[in-house]
Amino acid sequence: MKALLANTAKAMATLTIRNLRDDLKKQIQVRAARNGRSMEEEIRLILAGAGDLPAAPIPPDRATPRQNMPVAAPETPKPSPHNAAQHRILLIIGGGIAAYKSLDLIRRLKERGASVRVVMTDAAQEFVTPLAAGALSGGHVYTDLFDTVAEFDIGHIRLARETDLIVVAPATADLMAKMANGHGDDLASTILLATTAPVLIAPAMNPQMWSHPATQRNLARLRGDGIQTIGPNDGEMAESGEAGTGRMAEPLEIAQAALALLSPATPQLLKGKTLLITAGPTHEPIDPVRYIANRSSGKQGYAIARAAAAAGANVTLVSGPVDLSDPAGVNVVRVESAREMLAAVEQALPADVAIFAAAVADWRVASTGGQKIKKGASGTPELSLVENPDILSTVAHRTKARPSLVIGFAAETEKVIEHAKAKLAKKKCDWILANDVSEESGVMGGDRNTIHLVTKAGVEDWPEQSKNDVAHTLIARIAKEIT
Ligand SMILES: Cc1cc2nc3c(=O)[nH]c(=O)nc-3n(C[C@H](O)[C@H](O)[C@H](O)COP(=O)(O)O)c2cc1C
Repeated sequence: MKALLANTAKAMATLTIRNLRDDLKKQIQVRAARNGRSMEEEIRLILAGAGDLPAAPIPPDRATPRQNMPVAAPETPKPSPHNAAQHRILLIIGGGIAAYKSLDLIRRLKERGASVRVVMTDAAQEFVTPLAAGALSGGHVYTDLFDTVAEFDIGHIRLARETDLIVVAPATADLMAKMANGHGDDLASTILLATTAPVLIAPAMNPQMWSHPATQRNLARLRGDGIQTIGPNDGEMAESGEAGTGRMAEPLEIAQAALALLSPATPQLLKGKTLLITAGPTHEPIDPVRYIANRSSGKQGYAIARAAAAAGANVTLVSGPVDLSDPAGVNVVRVESAREMLAAVEQALPADVAIFAAAVADWRVASTGGQKIKKGASGTPELSLVENPDILSTVAHRTKARPSLVIGFAAETEKVIEHAKAKLAKKKCDWILANDVSEESGVMGGDRNTIHLVTKAGVEDWPEQSKNDVAHTLIARIAKEIT
């Protein structure tokens, strides 16, 4: 019944606006703008008999300077159209095939208590309708920069300002290019230029578009400008028969990343610090189709990267091949082999802290041919192995641009502490996080870990914890050491 009444009031408000005389329409526009409401909301209040409430001023931090607009004297506090306790999220839907997922994203954000305003690009409306987005968000969907009613009612500058976070999902290659280059030729790009709110983008596109140097250049520029990213993920694309990196992060992941940005659960212990983290296994090629790998899942390194970013650090995560989504707000560099990982690590320096959680292969095949090794008369092939570069030791031994804290992991199957102490001395790193990765421990690929922190001063035994909790414990311990 309540829903029926609300829908009726909404429909009546829309009808009423259409049927109003121009001068009345103008008065409502002014009154709604002054009260910080949409015209529909204003009319709904009038229809509900609450319309004779005194008009309240727009707080100065929310108000858009308007020339020639009558401004009411301050009266009662403004009944905000958005509950003050709510996070105000502006969702910009770009014109990608993943736009349908953004409808679910609206729902996910609202479930988490956010108020959601929606802006759609022209191309987005080819994929989903403003009607559907409006029905889910419960408000007007903004589409046109030059729509006089919408511009007078709320305006692009207020859309840009009256928000705690802008989420762009899907962020098309085109929108990323516009953002990176400061274009403002439609409502979405103009808002993105005019805002001072944090921006989270969820790129989604065909894998070739994603890996194109222009898109990667734009991405690097956007990250440099402080834009946060989530995804894209690996996997099947919405277009039939396409797979690779370019799939939009799932609505739940985006919603979680958005909320994490809005209310950082972790104190900003590492604000302003730069962390370099490695994670996952490496793949060492045998021939073009085969490789040597290990069972590392990358979960611990990814958890550390997430915790470091949540603590305000500037994080680069150099990741071997894993089946995990890029953590939000982290610059992820994906590599395959140990030598590629070393090159990416050196490229990412300088950093205040380096944490080497990757399980780097100790050896690689000495010579890998250009062709697949065939079964045949020459019998079983002999693989001759050579040692890979030792990334932890290389960085710890640096004289220039050595991070002030170099941390390694020691994954041992026996004599855990003894081996970790030997590793600390040999590699010249500052800390070793030793853990038992024997089969019985369930650490490899599992979600829990028992860490012994070995430093020059001694050994600290941490209790068994989830990998996430290990990550937070480590971040707090690092903050204590370096700040
Ligand atoms: C069927 C179809 C699917 C598309 N999917 C995507 C996509 O997933 N990602 C993307 O960047 N562009 C995609 N495009 C291209 C964009 O729609 C196009 O670049 C458009 O100009 C983007 O506009 P916008 O950035 O203003 O939303 C697609 C185009 C078509 C016809």
